[in-house]
Amino acid sequence: MLAGLGFLAGCATRGASASSDQLVGFTPVPRTFPDGKHIVIANEYEYETFVPWGEPLTSGAPAWQWPPSASAQAQQVGIGHDGMTFFALDDSGQHGLLALNHEYGSNPAVLGVDTPTTLDQVRASQHAHGVSVIEIRQTNGRWEVVADSRLSRRIHVNTEMTMSGPVEGHALITNPAGNPILGTLNNCANGQTPWGTYLTCEENFNFYFGANSAFEPTERQARYGLTGASFYGWHTFDPRFDLSDPDYKNESNRFGWVVEIDPANPAEKPVKRSALGRFKHESAAFAEGRDGRAVVYMGDDQQFEFIYKFVANDDWRQTLSAGKSPLDEGVLYVARFDDDNTGVWLPLTLEQPKLAAAFDDQAEILLQARLAATLVGATPMDRPEWISVGPDGDAFCTLTNNTQRSVADAANPNAPNPYGQIIRWRDANQHVGTTFTWDHFLICDDIYQTEQSLGSPDGLWADPDGRLFICTDGRQFEGKPDQLVVADTTTGQLSRLLVGVTGCEITGLTTTPDRRTLFVNVQHPGNGDPAVTSFPAADDGKTVPRDCTLAVRRKDGGIVGS
Ligand code: FEO
Ligand code: CA
Ligand code: CA
Ligand code: CA
Repeated sequence: MLAGLGFLAGCATRGASASSDQLVGFTPVPRTFPDGKHIVIANEYEYETFVPWGEPLTSGAPAWQWPPSASAQAQQVGIGHDGMTFFALDDSGQHGLLALNHEYGSNPAVLGVDTPTTLDQVRASQHAHGVSVIEIRQTNGRWEVVADSRLSRRIHVNTEMTMSGPVEGHALITNPAGNPILGTLNNCANGQTPWGTYLTCEENFNFYFGANSAFEPTERQARYGLTGASFYGWHTFDPRFDLSDPDYKNESNRFGWVVEIDPANPAEKPVKRSALGRFKHESAAFAEGRDGRAVVYMGDDQQFEFIYKFVANDDWRQTLSAGKSPLDEGVLYVARFDDDNTGVWLPLTLEQPKLAAAFDDQAEILLQARLAATLVGATPMDRPEWISVGPDGDAFCTLTNNTQRSVADAANPNAPNPYGQIIRWRDANQHVGTTFTWDHFLICDDIYQTEQSLGSPDGLWADPDGRLFICTDGRQFEGKPDQLVVADTTTGQLSRLLVGVTGCEITGLTTTPDRRTLFVNVQHPGNGDPAVTSFPAADDGKTVPRDCTLAVRRKDGGIVGS
């Protein structure tokens, strides 16, 4: 573990930047845009692109070639860059491990075909998903991959893992095939712990499961979208992803978790932390609660799903000293937002009579967290995406949109809701309480309706000075590029820091500990179509665009966002 070494930017000293009346002092990118083929960034800033999809992780790995073979892709950076964390390896702030999620890549983008026709194509697609841990260093003002790192590694759909917590070893995650727990996928947003580990979140796992024979989902499978209709066609060659194969009948229960990765220890298997519940996890925002207890705020990104928090039983330092994980023993709560701007955290435990009646044990409750949350009366939300906790303890959550909402409520005030909102709450007892107060930080609008508007907020990071970095994921299919906006949480002022290329989503936020470099991702530029863009390569109409990371700096070396 990297305990104590530059855990995350949020640990940096508050007040290290410009005075508070100039918290966000850069000149915002105006609402007029050029051709959508270039990143547009504020005048005071510059960026470089690095670690694109297909970048070899080590000097011995195959060079990028499209479409990738399965074996090449397993040694290269994956696609679908999303949540990420920079873990410093020394005090310089110039050298560290970038743990980077690879959320998804469509078959046409990755393989050049709609449906795989060989097992090698299935494996190539599987290896394009998951997580990369990449040793990087800034040398002469450029960020580069350290060529012969012993720490860089790929974690993908076929990487061996373990599960811990109440669901470990349960009959409902055991298959007649006897296969080990393998892989993570649709790794969307993320989190990090103060003990130096990375949390990667499994979101839309249902899209990877198909059915080769007749298949009728149970009520519990249907609630998680497991209909047998696959976007990827893996099940044709890999029986793990065939819902109709009785030998793998519980494979889908092994996905939809938060997975903990020790980035500095390649020998350590990733661990699925079942105490945090199974749903379509978007992000896992760590907060240290009263008495040192680990708290993780989490969203379930689907229309009418919920916001959760896990509260550990004990001080995380004592738990670690006792040789246990702070993420294994605790209570999972789900949020109810009441009309009077108060709310209640409802525990998902067998002490709730409705849950005792519906489920056999705590493991079942965690496996079916969505159903449990409905039973206890949680508030269905407008697609919870990222959550971030600010320096004064306020938590912010992006509710990206909900075109299906027909009845508004206090927390989700627009029906339908095409543009989303950012909700904010403060726990009544330093993150471990059972009640909270809440309001809306921002009700969003169409993406560029005005100089001050943004729509479909998604990626989110509250920095230690009171800025809120907001990434958008909306309207790409109307040709409107997404953006990164910096908000001053005191004044509410919004300033556009950068605008992406056509077809891309801007996502993922992490900084070096000194906050002089901000890393942010360009996901699915041109939606994979070289006729739209070849980004980050120069446009030629035929070079396939590649997801990549931007390293963003102030030209004067100042703190990012200022
Ligand atoms: Fe993976 Fe909800 O975005
Ligand atoms: Ca997202
Ligand atoms: Ca989104
Ligand atoms: Ca997305």
